Amino acid sequence: MKIFVTGGAGYIGSHTLVRLLSAGHEICVFDNFSNSSPEALARVKQLTNRDFALVEGDIRDASALTRALVEFGADAAVHFAGLKAVGESSEKPLLYYENNVSGSAHLLAAMDAAGCRRIVFSSSATVYGEAQCLPFDEDHPIAPTNPYGRTKAMVEGMIRDWSAATPDASAVLLRYFNPVGAHESGRIGEDPQGIPNNLMPYIAQVAIGRRERLSIFGDDYDTRDGTGERDYIHVVDLADAHLAALDYTGRAAGCEAINVGTGKGITVKELVAAYERACGHSIAYEITPRRPGDVAISFAATGKARELLGWEAALNVDAMCASSWLWQSTNAEGYGETA
Ligand code: NAD
Ligand code: WQD
Repeated sequence: MKIFVTGGAGYIGSHTLVRLLSAGHEICVFDNFSNSSPEALARVKQLTNRDFALVEGDIRDASALTRALVEFGADAAVHFAGLKAVGESSEKPLLYYENNVSGSAHLLAAMDAAGCRRIVFSSSATVYGEAQCLPFDEDHPIAPTNPYGRTKAMVEGMIRDWSAATPDASAVLLRYFNPVGAHESGRIGEDPQGIPNNLMPYIAQVAIGRRERLSIFGDDYDTRDGTGERDYIHVVDLADAHLAALDYTGRAAGCEAINVGTGKGITVKELVAAYERACGHSIAYEITPRRPGDVAISFAATGKARELLGWEAALNVDAMCASSWLWQSTNAEGYGETA
């Protein structure tokens, strides 16, 4: 199948490319490298021994996007491109609406121009907001608490409306929980710019000595050990979920939102302990006040993914930490330094 991949050079995109190429698909990546490096794509080619097309471009540029998609003749799109920093989205909301919402509208219009009717979209569990009940199932109310989450909810609605208005259209909105880890080779991984916002890359940078200690944001939550509990999902499992979702778009018309998680919560302290096992030394941390906006517990109901996609997570927290550590310890500066 010919698959157009926006944001394919990014963290989740690069891991998904490995799986798509290994499955024999023909790929065109469309990325502006605003939060990624061409080196990630070079490594994907090395790992798979497969070549693919690359168009360096911005999804806000409707004509460039349409040209690329029509020329490639895509059968399906996987739409990763977007900005994802929750804090930044409150400081620069219009940048997020323009990039994530307008960019996605351009993509759907470009798909119409190319006669492409299948899409898998990177949504987020952040669309649920505060938990009314746990685990989060796909019918949980949508009430995001920050501009980033609102852009994801808006794009979900837009894709749903597009699919209803487009004969034979098929869309899957994948609501990722907390993606972590790296490819088992250690050649590709998460390479955040500046101070990491998320827990796992922060732990990894403490482990390698780039940062002195982790701040644990609160130990007085109503959880097993008082620290926040999340559903961490191995990025390689997540990549496989995209293949299963693409497959599904070939079988069923309409639009489905589907959680991608393990269904199990892990606390901050449990993740730190697992990382210590992986790297073989202790991770320094201090307890600091809660981070505003954080919830105590988040984890996924996984039945819909199993039922519709035939997919479930296979890799555990030790595999997540071991792969992260292999990536971090062999690429201390991420893609900035070729290992
Ligand atoms: P990432 O930043 O590593 O990858 C995003 C890619 O999109 C990057 O290569 C970036 O250069 C590209 N991009 C951004 N804006 C673009 C634009 N206007 N035009 C062209 N390319 C553009 O992020 P990621 O972690 O791989 O996330 C991928 C998608 O999954 C995002 O949409 C994100 O919101 C979503 N998501 C991520 C997480 C997470 O925790 N990583 C969780 C839920 C959902
Ligand atoms: C996990 C836990 C923190 C950093 C975010 C986005 C969400 C989605 C995934 C894109 C929490 C604690 C963290 C640190 C800490 N992204 N923590 N010290 O907040 O669950 O979700 O990423 O869609 O939209 O909101 O993930 O990794 O930031 O935090 O103690 O330095 O780790 O309090 O309990 P979160 P996270």
